[in-house]
Amino acid sequence: METIKELLAGNNQWVRNTLKVNPDFFDKLSQGQKPQFLWIGCSDSRVPATEITGAVPGSIFVQRNIANMVVHTDTNLLSVVHYAVKVLKVKHIIVCGHYGCGGVKAAMTNEDYGFLNNWLLHIKDVYRMHENELDAIKDEQKRFDRFVELNVVEQVHDLTKISFIQECWKEGEFPQVHGWVYSLKDGLIRDLGVSANSNKSLGHVYKYKHG
Ligand code: CO
Repeated sequence: METIKELLAGNNQWVRNTLKVNPDFFDKLSQGQKPQFLWIGCSDSRVPATEITGAVPGSIFVQRNIANMVVHTDTNLLSVVHYAVKVLKVKHIIVCGHYGCGGVKAAMTNEDYGFLNNWLLHIKDVYRMHENELDAIKDEQKRFDRFVELNVVEQVHDLTKISFIQECWKEGEFPQVHGWVYSLKDGLIRDLGVSANSNKSLGHVYKYKHG
């Protein structure tokens, strides 16, 4: 796909193909959505939530930004998360990073990326939190890979810090939050094993009392 024309032609083709397989597809989806998942991923064009999970439209609510960050002053992300847990009542929130992430790579360097620096600072903070572990990895590629993983782990923690998520956990076991990493090299997703549905792994200053 190189041109705008191709994209629109691609859309036409997709509608025809979809209707051939499932004539009710648009009638059903136009009535509403009830996704079970919220996906927080990287804006990278190679990591589209629906395609890489074999899911269909209607199944994943999506928020993407550079390096799949959960930034607590990002009203866009917070609004998406709030709507997902309070209205859609998604059961799972997945933070999915990816090896080879340009944003994470940029945050490892001392380059001046202009305006982007402000966003990268949040990723650099993750490096500082794990500086001992990361600096001990001499192989640069391995250090980069581990930084990608640790960044996902911290974004999962950052989700558990959100007061209205902790509020949901007072009432039940959902949403469960998960940390995944996608490999551009083989297309496989790795579960980092940091799933949570409580605030118990957080420092005490992050835990809200609620009610
Ligand atoms: Co990326």
